[in-house]
Amino acid sequence: MQSSKHCSALPTDIAKLCPSIRKGKETHVWFISLSAEDLPWAYVILSPDEKKRASAFRDPQQQRWFAQRHAALRWLLSQYLEVTPSSLRFETGPHGKPRLCDGSSSWLGFSLSHRAGMAAVALANEANVGVDVECADEVSDLDQLVNDNCSAEEQRAIASAPRPERTRLFLRQWTRKEALLKAVGSGLNFPPNLLSIPATAAETIQGPFLGETGGVWSITSIDSDVNHLASVALPGIGWRVIARTL
Ligand SMILES: CC(C)(COP(=O)(O)OP(=O)(O)OC[C@H]1O[C@@H](n2cnc3c(N)ncnc32)[C@H](O)[C@@H]1OP(=O)(O)O)[C@@H](O)C(=O)NCCC(=O)NCCS
Repeated sequence: MQSSKHCSALPTDIAKLCPSIRKGKETHVWFISLSAEDLPWAYVILSPDEKKRASAFRDPQQQRWFAQRHAALRWLLSQYLEVTPSSLRFETGPHGKPRLCDGSSSWLGFSLSHRAGMAAVALANEANVGVDVECADEVSDLDQLVNDNCSAEEQRAIASAPRPERTRLFLRQWTRKEALLKAVGSGLNFPPNLLSIPATAAETIQGPFLGETGGVWSITSIDSDVNHLASVALPGIGWRVIARTL
């Protein structure tokens, strides 16, 4: 991408960020606060299949949020690729991980997540990226969630923390795991309790979390606001993570 002409009129520093993603090991994580209102522009750029998926939700709020997050994804990708949002074509891997399928755009890895009105889109140059966002307000049965989804080591780390801190601790572990499994493409087909991630407070952790043959991964946690926690996972080390709100 040589020019940022399509980005220059935008209100954020996306104009500078678009070209920089190709220059080094940089990942960009965009947080989008979704609207409770119907935003008709969102539907205009969706594909017929995305419109159909949106309309399959019974809850109008879920319909709106689906349309908005997929429209935001298309719009963001279009800024980096300098194409129109509606021209983008996707395909999915064996477990549902979406990717761009046009040869000229497939260098741009991306991942999408959504929880309770907050969407996150992570983008990276030539890398399988995974992002997950979760909401602390939505955790109702913490003990059960920890029991079902954490390794024995993670369960011990969470149980040893003061009770008020446990929800955030669990969510940090959970987003780290889900981001990694989304980067790999398996999603939750890989049982999350079989994955053990060090429960350190470090913002970025690195390691062969999937065993010695699964390669080295970097996972960075980001608090997008007081209630939402997110993590982004990437293969290898040395990534610079830039987080922005759209
Ligand atoms: C991918 C998965 C981890 C998402 O979990 P979630 O917390 O509900 O949802 P998130 O908002 O974080 O992510 C959803 C997005 O991840 C992406 N995604 C879907 N499958 C993916 C996969 N295997 N790997 C990476 N990303 C995936 C899609 O962009 C999806 O957005 P969409 O549903 O709006 O199209 C989970 O749905 C999963 O494991 N799916 C694969 C297994 C499966 O299909 N199971 C069906 C029931 S057995």
